[in-house]
Amino acid sequence: MTGGGLFITFEGIDGSGKSTQARLLAEHLRSQGRDIVLTREPGGAPGAEEIRKLLVEGEPARWSPECEILLFTAARRDHLERTILPALASGKVVISDRFADSTRVYQGVARAGLRGLVDKLHKLMIGREPDLTFIIDMDPEQALSRGLARQSGEDRFEDFGLPFQQALRQGFLDLAAEFPARCRVIDGNRPVDAIAADVLAAVQEGAA
Ligand code: ADP
Ligand code: TYD
Repeated sequence: MTGGGLFITFEGIDGSGKSTQARLLAEHLRSQGRDIVLTREPGGAPGAEEIRKLLVEGEPARWSPECEILLFTAARRDHLERTILPALASGKVVISDRFADSTRVYQGVARAGLRGLVDKLHKLMIGREPDLTFIIDMDPEQALSRGLARQSGEDRFEDFGLPFQQALRQGFLDLAAEFPARCRVIDGNRPVDAIAADVLAAVQEGAA
């Protein structure tokens, strides 16, 4: 990790421990003197956070998959323009809790066979991939019980239920196989610190 920005994303099913690991990685790298921007999707910029509310609250059937793709992509474009690209340009490490892989899997695979549409829109409006992506893999039943226990009021996607989460898990594993150069699958069903150590080692290995 010398000079230049580095773009790292965390992906996985709801409740798999992405936010926890993104925060721990940010703390570790900050303690090593790196300039870190810790961010998330949907959101990560004021306008994108407004769009987030439309997406994560309310009834599961509130939006069609096509409308969701447009809203997630609009939020991502705002996040990219206002937060991610400026930070990378000034040499910072950007750590994002979710990014485009979530749309590929949630909207492109698990809800409807719309991956082609997701890819076209990504190419037109986003056109940027992370340097390194951690896919936190774990059993959906366990992850679901962790996620719903939080009672955050942002449970629209958790409310789709277990078969949906199982399809998501497989979707993320398939994605890791599709993009092996940047994706690392991490077993999330372990103590927080053991996972964090693997994540940090992979970042430092990439930097060597
Ligand atoms: P996500 O961002 O993927 O939804 P979170 O990091 O918010 O997941 O974690 C979901 C819940 O599970 C939180 O209550 C968190 O404290 C807990 N948690 C996270 N990682 C672990 C772990 N490795 N073992 C047990 N509980 C965990
Ligand atoms: P998030 O806040 O990361 O939820 P969690 O902490 O439960 O993992 O994301 C909110 C929800 O939005 C989550 O259920 C996944 C979904 N989502 C998509 O369906 N497509 C996307 O492109 C993104 C970024 C998120």
